[in-house]
Amino acid sequence: MTNLDGKVALITGAARGMGESHARHFVASGAKVVLGDVLDEPGRAVADSLGEHAYYVHLDVTSEAAWDAAVAVAISRFGRLDVLVNNAGVQPISPMADTSADDFRHCLDINTVGQFIGIKAVTAAMTEAGGGSIVNISSTNGFVGAPGMSAYTASKFAIRGLTRCAALELGHAGIRVNSVHPGGVDTAMTRDPEWEGQDQSAFFATLPVPRIGQPADISRMVAWLASDESAYASGAEFLVDGGLLAGRY
Ligand SMILES: NC(=O)c1ccc[n+]([C@@H]2O[C@H](COP(=O)([O-])OP(=O)(O)OC[C@H]3O[C@@H](n4cnc5c(N)ncnc54)[C@H](O)[C@@H]3O)[C@@H](O)[C@H]2O)c1
Repeated sequence: MTNLDGKVALITGAARGMGESHARHFVASGAKVVLGDVLDEPGRAVADSLGEHAYYVHLDVTSEAAWDAAVAVAISRFGRLDVLVNNAGVQPISPMADTSADDFRHCLDINTVGQFIGIKAVTAAMTEAGGGSIVNISSTNGFVGAPGMSAYTASKFAIRGLTRCAALELGHAGIRVNSVHPGGVDTAMTRDPEWEGQDQSAFFATLPVPRIGQPADISRMVAWLASDESAYASGAEFLVDGGLLAGRY
C-alpha cells in the first residue's frame, strides 16, 4: 500500500462514492484527512467512522469563503496541508436542446470553477509545507464526448487545461498537479435513475478489463499521485478506465 505517513489531505465530495473511498484509503495509508462535502450528515458519519485522523467540514466548492475555512481547519487540526483531491462533481444528463445556459454554467461552476478556487485556496498552505500534490478528478469525458453530457464533458475537458496551467505555475513551490480520468465507476453517479434501463454490465463486459470500475481502483491511483512515489509526475493525465479509451474491436 502507498505510504502517506505524515501527509495531511483535503478531499472534496468525500461524503460518499469515490471521495469517501479516497478518504478511507488515505487514512489507512497513514494520512490525516479533512473531508469536505455539502452532504453534512453522511460526510460527518464517514469522518466519525475514521476516528481522530479524519474531520468533516461543510465545503461547497463554489464558495471561496468555504474553501478558506476548510484550509484553516486542516491547519488548525492537523498542522499542515500537503494534498488536495479535487473530487467533488455533478453529472447532469440532458440533451443540449433541453439544457439552459444556467444549467450549463451550474455544472461548470461545481466541476471546474470549484477546482480552480480550490487550487488557489491551498497554494499558500502547501507552499508553507514545502510543497504538495494536487489531484484533479476529471473523467474519460475529459477526452471524449457523450450525447446528453455537453456540460459535464466541457467541464471535464477544461480540467485538463486547468491542471497543466497549475502545474506550470506552482512547480516552483514544489507543488505537483495532475489529473485522474476514471472510466465507469460503480457509485451513486452511475446508479443515477437517469441511467435506468441501460444494460451497463453488458457494456462493461466488452472492456479490456471486463468489469465496471470500483472506487478503490481509483483511490489507489489518487493515493500514488498524492505520495512521494510519484515525485516526477506533474501536469500529466492518468486514465484509470479499464481500457475504455484504448479503442474498439
Ligand atoms: N462514477 C463515475 O463513473 C465517474 C467517472 C468519471 C469521473 N467521475 C468523477 O468522480 C468524482 C466523484 O464522483 P462519484 O462517482 O463518487 O459521484 P458521487 O455523486 O457519489 O459523489 C460526488 C460527491 O460530490 C459532492 N458534491 C456535489 N456538489 C458539490 C459541491 N458544490 N460542493 C462539494 N461537494 C459537492 C456530492 O455531494 C457527492 O458526495 C466526480 O468529480 C465525478 O465527475 C465519476
